[in-house]
Amino acid sequence: MKTRSPATRFLNTVGSFSVIVLAAALTTVACGGGGKESSVASADAAAGHDLFKRTCATCHGPNGEGMPKLGKNLHANEFVKGTSDADLVEFIKLGRPAGHPDNTQGVDMPPKGGNPMLTDADIGAIVAYMRSLQ
Ligand code: HEC
Repeated sequence: MKTRSPATRFLNTVGSFSVIVLAAALTTVACGGGGKESSVASADAAAGHDLFKRTCATCHGPNGEGMPKLGKNLHANEFVKGTSDADLVEFIKLGRPAGHPDNTQGVDMPPKGGNPMLTDADIGAIVAYMRSLQ
């Protein structure tokens, strides 16, 4: 057949289009899949550090090193190491008032570090940043 019917041409077009879509999807899986954990975690950690500097640094120092009589050092921190991501998010939302039995500094850790604008996603990124300090 010399001339293809419009229907065949349509099918061919759809066919090549599907191949392109499939190839794109596979590329995404291939590239995104393997490196996903670390690249997402490091992107989160970088965004988290940004948020940390704006909200937490007043008491914990710009890089989480802690401040005397204020926020604790968050590097190699037993509490962070021993607490799940979800529980750390909860901890940050609630803070730890000076009257709390676990409080050792006698100073409040305010809920959300005193920044009510922080979303769960923001706090998740901050947790990723704190993980990078362990
Ligand atoms: C106004 C000061 C202040 C701000 C702002 C603040 N913190 Fe704290 N944070 C504290 C204090 C004080 C403690 C220690 C309380 C205690 O004695 O147990 C603490 C404790 C912590 C702990 C537990 C450490 C441990 O070893 O028990 C984590 C984790 C933490 N803060 C994370 C954050 C994060 C993340 C932010 C920002 C969202 C933040 N803090 C903002 C004062 C602050």
